[in-house]
Amino acid sequence: MKLNIAVLAGDGIGPEIMQQAIKVVNVVCEKKGHEVKYTEAVTGAAAIDAVGDPYPDSTHKICMEADAVLFGAIGHPRFDNDPTAKVRPEQGLLRMRKQLGLYANIRPVETFPSLLHKSPLRKDLVEGADFICIRELTGGIYFGDKGRSDNGNTAYDTCVYTREEIERILKLGFEYAMKRNKKLTVVDKANVLETSRLWRQTAQEIAKQYPEVDTQYMFVDNAAMQLIQWPKNFDVMVTENMFGDILTDEASVITGSLGLLPSASIGLHTSVFEPIHGSYPQAAGKDIANPIAMVLSAALMFEYAFNLKEEAEMIRKAVAASLEQNYVTEDIDKTNPKKTSEVGSWLADYIKKNF
Ligand code: IPM
Ligand code: MN
Repeated sequence: MKLNIAVLAGDGIGPEIMQQAIKVVNVVCEKKGHEVKYTEAVTGAAAIDAVGDPYPDSTHKICMEADAVLFGAIGHPRFDNDPTAKVRPEQGLLRMRKQLGLYANIRPVETFPSLLHKSPLRKDLVEGADFICIRELTGGIYFGDKGRSDNGNTAYDTCVYTREEIERILKLGFEYAMKRNKKLTVVDKANVLETSRLWRQTAQEIAKQYPEVDTQYMFVDNAAMQLIQWPKNFDVMVTENMFGDILTDEASVITGSLGLLPSASIGLHTSVFEPIHGSYPQAAGKDIANPIAMVLSAALMFEYAFNLKEEAEMIRKAVAASLEQNYVTEDIDKTNPKKTSEVGSWLADYIKKNF
């Protein structure tokens, strides 16, 4: 198969972890006889510096023409503490999501047995936890009208959802539930927000088409609590953009390190695969960041963008082996940490030798 991949490494640790994912993708492709072509494009602060735009048209064109996008991370501290900055790296990510129509962000949360001791939760609570968060990604408060009035002294962000936007993401949620353990948790704040009431109403209607699915409705504050109280209760969770942003960060640490979780963003055009963590600027250039979330994002790419499940499985097995053998970066083992590049090479070698 021919794989045409757009590579948007972005900022901070993005380029370093991307290199490791590419090592791994290369060896998988060699093994399986796939021809792979990478096209690099700028995004984030790096793109602001280069061309004054965090998601320039040239980058969008490359993404549209590719079969899949591997995305590193974006963000830079010089923007975080400057609320007056007009152009921000994050706008690039949001524009990419909107322009590629990436309405669904899928974040699988799985625990690795060899890392249970790293979880902030008790072992018996996390052991065997395995769920998927589906976050709506192109609507809600992230994209509604925003601005200032009253000479800058009043600010507003508007949360808007159409029935159509809600339906397509909920249907995806129900479909995932059907493929898994047939349990769907719809997270909202329907006791307060009108958009949430439309979500709940729509979910109740769609649920009739999925009588086998056990559909639960949960307020977001309660969901935040239940995620840490009893994570094994969840199978598929579906929610709106900002609730999903917050809950998936919470969910990610349950597994022991934020550096492990990949995500897939899918929608109308090319799908994007990216770690759920940020650009970790403190670690940039030091060869210390955990590349696993990026590498597992490449596994999701094989599965979702190319329907190549064996290739995805090779990567997942290599990752599980590196964790079992404690060949890991400092976020997991401070006493004998390996470098980002060492972990990447180890994973590529493992695949070369074992498959
Ligand atoms: C994420 C990030 C982004 C978001 C930021 C960087 C805009 O936190 O992908 O979860 O809020 O969606
Ligand atoms: Mn986030």
